[in-house]
Amino acid sequence: MTERNITIVLLIALVTGTIIYASSVDLNLPGNNQGYAPEQPIAFSHRLHSGNLQIDCQYCHTGADKSRHAGIPPASVCMNCHRFVTSSWDDVKIEEQKAQEENRDLKIPVSEELAKLYTAVGFDTEKMQYDPDKIGKPLEWVRVHSLPAYVYFDHRRHVNSDVACQQCHGPIETMEKVSQESSLSMGWCVNCHRDAKNGILADLKGKNPSTNCTVCHY
Ligand code: HEC
Ligand code: HEC
Ligand code: HEC
Ligand code: HEC
Ligand code: HEC
Repeated sequence: MTERNITIVLLIALVTGTIIYASSVDLNLPGNNQGYAPEQPIAFSHRLHSGNLQIDCQYCHTGADKSRHAGIPPASVCMNCHRFVTSSWDDVKIEEQKAQEENRDLKIPVSEELAKLYTAVGFDTEKMQYDPDKIGKPLEWVRVHSLPAYVYFDHRRHVNSDVACQQCHGPIETMEKVSQESSLSMGWCVNCHRDAKNGILADLKGKNPSTNCTVCHY
């Protein structure tokens, strides 16, 4: 090999190494994503819906006890209520007072955030009915938690073994905006499996999750 060829080979090795390193950092991203709280297409508040209104988690995340993914509710689930509720109660009260003072008819207010939901599903708030001609772009919620593809995780096994959502996701019912509470690292998974197995976790007595590599890696 000539000197020039060696330089090229070394260069290629360096570049490949960097790419491999970069992609391994990328693969590790979920583990380093603690605290990740992206902006969402609608400022949906868990604190309001789960905390104040006490709507059950699984009313919206229907897959949690039946499938691998808990799932994000389709806009039609939101519309079960928001077909009728178009703004906060506070805004309704303010409008009621104004209408009375100005001696005019009540004009039910439509919240700016909910207007985005109505655009997505094609709901006309003037007529309070669906208008198929007005259906806009569907809502694209930004994923918060995400494991690398080589990890097998299944909600149903956990939810049906009495592991509370909050044990993994933190106090979601207090969050204005969802944030990734746990590291989702391998150590995080394995520590809980080991502690549960050893009977250290009082609320997971009698559970026996495996710590074999093949349980979480195909
Ligand atoms: C009224 C419907 C509704 C209820 C009730 C609800 N959620 Fe959600 N949840 C959503 C929507 C919509 C999103 C996507 C937007 C966001 O991240 O805020 C979401 C996102 C999440 C996420 C993040 C998903 C991701 O992308 O990683 C978690 C975790 C979650 N919810 C857990 C819970 C838990 C735990 C409860 C009960 C304490 C709960 N949710 C109650 C609608 C709901
Ligand atoms: C079980 C009923 C119910 C469901 C389901 C529901 N909501 Fe709500 N939501 C409400 C109520 C009631 C309010 C007003 C609460 C108040 O003012 O105290 C509200 C308020 C809101 C607000 C705040 C409005 C404002 O401007 O203050 C937004 C945004 C919102 N909801 C979005 C959603 C989205 C998105 C979904 C579906 C993922 C959803 N909601 C599902 C009942 C519901
Ligand atoms: C043992 C820990 C654990 C428990 C318990 C748990 N989750 Fe999760 N959740 C995760 C992990 C890990 C992910 C990321 C999964 C992935 O990337 O495939 C996730 C993802 C999600 C998502 C994003 C969409 C999806 O389905 O992947 C939602 C929504 C969610 N969880 C809601 C819930 C709710 C609601 C509960 C309780 C009924 C719950 N989780 C219980 C660990 C848990
Ligand atoms: C807070 C505790 C806890 C955390 C965190 C946790 N698990 Fe589990 N896991 C359990 C329990 C409890 C079971 C059910 C054991 C049983 O049914 O006896 C289980 C079961 C499983 C199973 C089914 C295999 C078996 O032995 O039952 C898999 C696969 C699994 N977990 C993967 C994961 C992965 C991947 C993560 C991290 C992303 C994780 N778990 C995080 C507690 C946890
Ligand atoms: C309870 C679930 C679980 C078990 C059991 C488990 N792993 Fe993992 N493993 C994970 C998760 C989750 C990740 C992803 C970590 C991240 O993204 O930071 C991972 C990542 C990895 C990686 C990628 C490099 C790294 O460190 O991020 C390797 C290699 C690996 N595991 C090997 C193993 C081997 C070998 C075993 C058995 C001794 C094992 N795993 C057992 C959940 C598990």
